[in-house]
Amino acid sequence: MATNRTFTMIKPDAVENNYIGGILKMINDAGFRIVAMKYTKLSAEAAGKFYEVHKERPFYGELVTYMSSGPIVAAILEKNNAVADFRTLIGATDPTKADEGTIRKIYAKSIAANAVHGSDSDENAQIEGDFFFSKLERF
Ligand code: CMP
Repeated sequence: MATNRTFTMIKPDAVENNYIGGILKMINDAGFRIVAMKYTKLSAEAAGKFYEVHKERPFYGELVTYMSSGPIVAAILEKNNAVADFRTLIGATDPTKADEGTIRKIYAKSIAANAVHGSDSDENAQIEGDFFFSKLERF
């Protein structure tokens, strides 16, 4: 059964372009409640650990360098069917393939600098949320 939480990051490209407000508005307007939120910057080591599942992929090095290149916003979001509904809201990983009206279609520059991350399963939502937030930081 689907749980009701997912995890997101607003990535360095979107932060740099002042898209935090616009992206959070889309998230709230789509019915997600913010459970936890943090403005922070990943070290290369932390980014490498977060994306460890992609370690064997050819783009892993680029991904780690990019994700540690500037500040990000990390958040846990709540809504019924959160993981699937959030992935619909953000659109395809490659913004050229994302549907009209999705966050990546509107705000992403490229497949690497694709504005936002969204968990791909309930299990990963839990792991990724735990990576950034303690129990005391969730409301
Ligand atoms: P994200 O949802 O954060 O999960 C893994 C990330 O790897 C993905 O978004 C993209 O930013 C990145 N990624 C996936 N495929 C590629 C690729 N072919 N080249 C560069 N980055 C990629």
